[in-house]
Amino acid sequence: MRRNLRDYGILPTIKKSLGGIIRPLFYRRTYLLYKTDIRKVEFPNNLDSNFQFRFVDIGERSIISQIVEMEEWLEMRLDEILKGGGKCLVALDDAMVAGFNLISYDQIHIPVVQYTAPLGPDEAFSEQITVSVAYRGHGLGSKLRYKLYKDLFEGERYIIYGATDVNNKANLALCRKVGLDVIATIKYRKWLWIEKTTRVPSE
Ligand SMILES: CC(C)(COP(=O)(O)OP(=O)(O)OC[C@H]1O[C@@H](n2cnc3c(N)ncnc32)[C@H](O)[C@@H]1OP(=O)(O)O)[C@@H](O)C(=O)NCCC(=O)NCCS
Repeated sequence: MRRNLRDYGILPTIKKSLGGIIRPLFYRRTYLLYKTDIRKVEFPNNLDSNFQFRFVDIGERSIISQIVEMEEWLEMRLDEILKGGGKCLVALDDAMVAGFNLISYDQIHIPVVQYTAPLGPDEAFSEQITVSVAYRGHGLGSKLRYKLYKDLFEGERYIIYGATDVNNKANLALCRKVGLDVIATIKYRKWLWIEKTTRVPSE
């Protein structure tokens, strides 16, 4: 509830809470799938900042636990993603994680809408980007994206995908800023025990 209030605002949070009551009967989530070809994105010349940007090693447990504290859903997934070849770019303010962007290379997987799609050899999927509340709104999310684009480009992975709840205004604003375009809407609907996921391409 606190996270929803913080990230989505009061109305979507009330809607979500009411939705929780009827959830066993009917449940729906709508996500937007976005994508860019980083060869076409114009990077700003100056990406200097007071943060230290680097990729995390799976053995760095104090960093990993800060990441999990920021995004609880990663508790079961983060090690799995890193062991599977994924990478997590962190922005450190001394020893504190100010933000991170976690990516994987094997597939697009969005558990909340039960959507999975394969990735090609030059593609990547952004599992999660999060900036700690105290650091939001000062350009750190954008810097994480651009630094990641640079690394992907150097590794000859040119296409990056990501996904976000349709109500996530902050992330959609960030997407617009860093050249990520919405390419499809993914709707998950569940009536009693009948589940359905549909993908509708954007025009
Ligand atoms: C999405 C998120 C990473 C953005 O990080 P950030 O450091 O605040 O992003 P930036 O400061 O680089 O902002 C990028 C753009 O988004 C805009 N923006 C940021 N927060 C906004 C908000 N709450 N509402 C509207 N626009 C917003 C900024 O104004 C900026 O655009 P501009 O430069 O044209 O003004 C951060 O809000 C967050 O961690 N949210 C919770 C986790 C999440 O939802 N992750 C996405 C799903 S994986």
